[in-house]
Order: sequence, then C-alpha cells, then structure tokens
Amino acid sequence: MITVKDMLDQKGHSAWTIGPDAKVLEALELMAKKGLGALVVVDKGDEVIGILSERDYARKIILMGRHSEDTPIKDIMTKEVYGVHYETTADECMALMTDKHIRHLPVCKDGKLAGVISIGDVVKAVIGQQKVTIENLENYIMGKYQ
Ligand SMILES: NC(=O)c1ccc[n+]([C@@H]2O[C@H](COP(=O)([O-])OP(=O)(O)OC[C@H]3O[C@@H](n4cnc5c(N)ncnc54)[C@H](O)[C@@H]3O)[C@@H](O)[C@H]2O)c1
Repeated sequence: MITVKDMLDQKGHSAWTIGPDAKVLEALELMAKKGLGALVVVDKGDEVIGILSERDYARKIILMGRHSEDTPIKDIMTKEVYGVHYETTADECMALMTDKHIRHLPVCKDGKLAGVISIGDVVKAVIGQQKVTIENLENYIMGKYQ
C-alpha cells in the first residue's frame, strides 16, 4: 500500500508556505512561479493556521468585491485544515479529499509541517500502483496458462 511518505519521496518533501498578513497578490505570484495550486499559511512560530488555494482566490476575491493587491491572505484563507501523516495511505488521502472536497493535504511529522500532498500526487500514485498490479496479474496468467 502506497503511503504519504512514498509519495513525498517521489515528489519532494518541501512545503511552500506564506504568512497570513502577506497580500493575496504575493501568494498568486509565488504559486504561479512554482507551479503550485495552494500555499500552506503559517504564523510566526511556523504553526499551520490555514491553507490558501486557487479556489479561495477564485471564489473570494473578485466575486466578493476584493482586490488581490490589498487583501491579506488571512481574509480569504481556508481555516479548517485537514492534515495527514507519513503513514497515511494513498487510499485514505483520496477518501479524505473526496469527503471534505479538498485537493491539498499538508503533511505533519513530529508536530511539524513536512510536505504537501495534492490530488494529482494521489491519482498518480494510485494509477502507478494499479499498473503494477495489472502487470503482475498478466505475468501470473501468462506464466500459468502458456
Ligand atoms: N506529473 C506529475 O507527477 C504530477 C503530479 C501532481 C500534479 N500534476 C499535474 O499538476 C496539475 C495540478 O495538480 P493538482 O491539482 O494535483 O495540484 P497542484 O497544481 O497544487 O500540484 C502540483 C504539484 O505541486 C505540489 N504542491 C502544491 N502545493 C504545494 C505546496 N504548498 N508545497 C509543496 N508542494 C506543493 C503538489 O503536491 C503537486 O506535486 C494537474 O495538471 C496534474 O496533472 C502532475
């Protein structure tokens, strides 16, 4: 069973973060530059206090009469953050994402932020796992019946 640690070993253990008082525009620039769909929001003590996703931007800026250059991240971030651990499986991540309608899960290790898993990471891992299972089954069938 593929775990969060396996997925991080594949994609990298870095977690891109931003402070709650930075402006939304700064977050958008960082997300565009690094190719990220979300940033974890941390306070001065590196405590996770929220997450800012493309969806927060899409739904809470123009539609609510705000402007990204003067709106602080804390005004639009999602404050309810669901995290996972190294041992959490890809299936458990997928279930949590589906249940909570979220696409990014911060990873917690020893009380500290240790990476981010996205829905794309989970899909890639699950598809890879299924491919191996199919190949093994094909080899088994070929070996048995030829
Ligand atoms: N080829 C790959 O290995 C791969 C993996 C994941 C996603 N994608 C593609 O990226 C696009 C969007 O993916 P998505 O919806 O999963 O989300 P996304 O655009 O947020 O994720 C892209 C990658 O950045 C990472 N990431 C995002 N926010 C991060 C953060 N704050 N700190 C550290 N890493 C962070 C994700 O884990 C993922 O690996 C899709 O087109 C998807 O197919 C490709």
